[in-house]
Amino acid sequence: MVRTAVFSSACGAPAPAPIVRVVSDSIDLDGLLTRFRGELAGTEDEAGLYQLQVAYLGKKGQVTALSKSLGSLAPEDRKAAGERINAVKRACEEEIAARAAELRSRARQRELARIEDVSAVRPRALGTFHPITQTRRALEQVFGELGFDIEDGPHVEFARFNFDDLNIGPDHPARDMADTFFVQPAAGSGRMVDELVLRTHTSPVQIRTMRARKPPIRIVALGTVFRRDDDATHSPMFHQIEGLCVDEGVSMADLRATLYRFVGAFFGRELEVRFRPSFFPFVEPGAEFDMQCPFCGGSGCSTCKSSGWIELGGSGMVHPAVFEACGIDPERYTGWAFGFGIDRMAMLMHQIHDLRLMFDGDIRFAEQFPC
Ligand code: PHE
Repeated sequence: MVRTAVFSSACGAPAPAPIVRVVSDSIDLDGLLTRFRGELAGTEDEAGLYQLQVAYLGKKGQVTALSKSLGSLAPEDRKAAGERINAVKRACEEEIAARAAELRSRARQRELARIEDVSAVRPRALGTFHPITQTRRALEQVFGELGFDIEDGPHVEFARFNFDDLNIGPDHPARDMADTFFVQPAAGSGRMVDELVLRTHTSPVQIRTMRARKPPIRIVALGTVFRRDDDATHSPMFHQIEGLCVDEGVSMADLRATLYRFVGAFFGRELEVRFRPSFFPFVEPGAEFDMQCPFCGGSGCSTCKSSGWIELGGSGMVHPAVFEACGIDPERYTGWAFGFGIDRMAMLMHQIHDLRLMFDGDIRFAEQFPC
């Protein structure tokens, strides 16, 4: 019995021969392959390749239609016909992939031909983090591992948080116009505004934290601060880190242990820490603290100016007046705080001698500190 099955033709291809002839000898399969190859050779881009793939191998494609019409063949013919159709299908797939690779390589060649001298292409420079950012991140990492949360505060700060609530009274010299940048309220705003300043230290973050959170508190705050100062070792804008710990029974010994642990973790070796009595209105008792010089181990070198010690910053036990300003009961809680310069730490680590180099914005400087 002669049965005919006609496959649908995509893209207006000429109507192919009946399937019976296809399976009775391979001429029509060969014909299909020849047509496919002709069209493939004329395909110049990915869109054309895709169309061809759909026309032959897609759901309604010519090869697919052949497979579907296998059912209409005599059972004894189906196996051989199926194998041959599969072989054609594989051939189409492989040839489309090969043509795609060829088109891609030609496109690349054309692109390269447009560039006159390939070796003249400058490699793109990779950026690096500024040494202060690197130091800041390293500090955050170490204090994070010691169990401290990171807090933040604004650069434009209420004078009350920057001074008054830190027990720095109206007559304190730090409030002088010569030391502090005051921010003028908008002229004619007609509103009473709290006096605003550019924060002169990170200590107002102590106030913000204690107003917002109840003990136990363990935080560090890192950021930019501003003072009217400008020479080789002072910049009107610089960076500090503040530490604050408040809980029941917290003592100066905890402060010392924390600083000792921090210095050891940061420099990767055991270094002594020492206190020198000092005064800051928001701590009592107050102390400046030094660390054993990490470069000579304390025997004396140019970095520590032969003293064996490097000054780091200020610290002490939180003053009861500060607790009261923040609504924390000074009878129940005690706490300690410290603060020191991040820029100085970065200079130490990288042996940078002039602070101004850090802020000149010269890319040749920053490039020397790959991270
Ligand atoms: N805020 C002080 C300064 O800028 C440093 C300090 C912080 C001192 C915390 C004591 C406690 O110099």
